[in-house]
Amino acid sequence: MNTPSRLAIFPGSFDPFTVGHADVAARAARLFDRVIVAILVNPDKRPMFDVDERVAMIRESMAETTPVEVETFQGLLADFAARRGAAAIVRGLRSGTDFDYELQMAGMNRHLQAGTETVFLTPAEGTSYISSGLVREIITHGGPVDGLVPEPVRRRVLERRNSAGTRRA
Ligand code: PNS
Repeated sequence: MNTPSRLAIFPGSFDPFTVGHADVAARAARLFDRVIVAILVNPDKRPMFDVDERVAMIRESMAETTPVEVETFQGLLADFAARRGAAAIVRGLRSGTDFDYELQMAGMNRHLQAGTETVFLTPAEGTSYISSGLVREIITHGGPVDGLVPEPVRRRVLERRNSAGTRRA
């Protein structure tokens, strides 16, 4: 008898995708048959990287090491996970502060769609201080993002800086 393939949804804003995100996606891919990295498209927010750039950066970041799919979604995560037939939502847990928020979100997703399970994975030691918000702040102030984001993301940050410099010149 064929066992059904187990799909995990790894959702987030990924603005931008960090090495911590890449690590969690790779861990999820070792536990599940398929992983969809799902980017929330939030029309109320102005992201630093538009959604097409984020899709491309995540695809490129994972391409060499880990087979994952990349999709975008709008609306409720619980509905998206149910539509895709996901066995679980995967979220990274860096700290106790993350845990409080994530526990609430996992409960709400299960309330919205009975049977929605959330699996928490801890990222590699040494990446738990990295967040997209802090990376955006570093980018805004022209600081170095080496070691914080995968190479395809770093390359785009540098390209932006170069084109901004060219425009100013
Ligand atoms: O990377 P983030 O910003 O921590 O990801 C948060 C995300 C996208 C997982 C969360 O905001 C979400 O699921 N948004 C979709 C709307 C939704 O389902 N909200 C209710 C969640 S309980």
